[in-house]
Amino acid sequence: MSIFIDTATPEEAKIAKDFGWVKGITTNPLLLAGAGRKAESVLAQLAELNMGKLFYQLISSNSKDMHKEARMAKEIAGDQLVLKIPPVAAGFQAVYSLSKEIPCCVTALYSVSQALVASEAGAQYIAVYVNRATKLIGDGLALLNAMSKILHGSTTEILAASIKSSEEASSSLLCGADHLTLPFNILSTLCIHEHSEEAVRQFNSGGTGIQIEVK
Ligand code: E4P
Repeated sequence: MSIFIDTATPEEAKIAKDFGWVKGITTNPLLLAGAGRKAESVLAQLAELNMGKLFYQLISSNSKDMHKEARMAKEIAGDQLVLKIPPVAAGFQAVYSLSKEIPCCVTALYSVSQALVASEAGAQYIAVYVNRATKLIGDGLALLNAMSKILHGSTTEILAASIKSSEEASSSLLCGADHLTLPFNILSTLCIHEHSEEAVRQFNSGGTGIQIEVK
């Protein structure tokens, strides 16, 4: 299982890298556009961090351009690259041909049948947009769970995306997600719990009489 940061801000990604338990970066065209610079330059900066996996989403709509764009991304991100590909007809075909050389993630799926086709086409990952699915079709976690059952025994891994709280992150894992991608604000809350903080305050309150000299 891996936890990724969903961002196109190199500064955020660097902080996440320093946490030590974030194993890669997912981006999307909106995040990249929000960086206000050319996507290639942001991608190159994210690749320099060398965090593990670097997910880049193709924006081309036909097969020829998708292959060209994939080669451009591969040149920048090298072996870190995972191609995010939308679940449209040309996208599934691109997964079939590109997945032989670059790991592919079919992204923004909203049905079990799309998950099945993505897996059959050779996707290493599918990205399920949990919160968006809850808003659009009622229960993103139930969708995730159904996809996980369908993909049981296959080599396709489920990346839970569009997560808006740490509870939604935990529930996604309990519903069958293999990996999580989280925006910086949610990522930062994962290791915090009020009772842990209270316990630490109690332990450190000096009541035990232990003295230690830190050099
Ligand atoms: C994942 O790869 C996507 O970039 C992301 O999780 C989308 O989430 P959103 O619903 O916050 O846009």
